[in-house]
Amino acid sequence: MKGEDKGDRVNKILRNKKYKEYLKRIEGLEKTRIYCKHHIVHFMDVARIAYILNLEEESGIDKEKIYVTALLHDIGRWVEYEKGIDHALASKELAYEILKDCGFTYEETVVICQAIGHHRIKENHPTTLSRYLYQADKLSRPCTSCESIGTCKKFNKGEVPVVVY
Ligand SMILES: [Fe+2]
Repeated sequence: MKGEDKGDRVNKILRNKKYKEYLKRIEGLEKTRIYCKHHIVHFMDVARIAYILNLEEESGIDKEKIYVTALLHDIGRWVEYEKGIDHALASKELAYEILKDCGFTYEETVVICQAIGHHRIKENHPTTLSRYLYQADKLSRPCTSCESIGTCKKFNKGEVPVVVY
């Protein structure tokens, strides 16, 4: 465990002005949303599940990279609500700026943003990080106890929600 120190870029992102502003915007726009929300709890769930997948498969992906990718993956949700732009693409764009502000190299930024841009697509993941983000995003949602399942687009063909483990 790294904890918070000078080189701790995960917590640098959490303190980043733009990051905090985007979270606030999403929160405001999702106030009356009855489906899955996109807040820090979701981001942390995704980070932890993606890291578990990484451990289970012994992939050896850097923990910081996994956490950062998860923390940023839905940050463009507000852009989708306001402008109709796909949030995976919007999040990728916004993540570029934040990663730059928080001291990530160009190479690191490319890999993280690639995973974010691909996180709504099931197939053909460019990296294992990208696949873990996709899987963790799905695994993080407690659909079995959701009251909005009747109208949720994930279950519009009558699928029964189950816990995948
Ligand atoms: Fe997500």
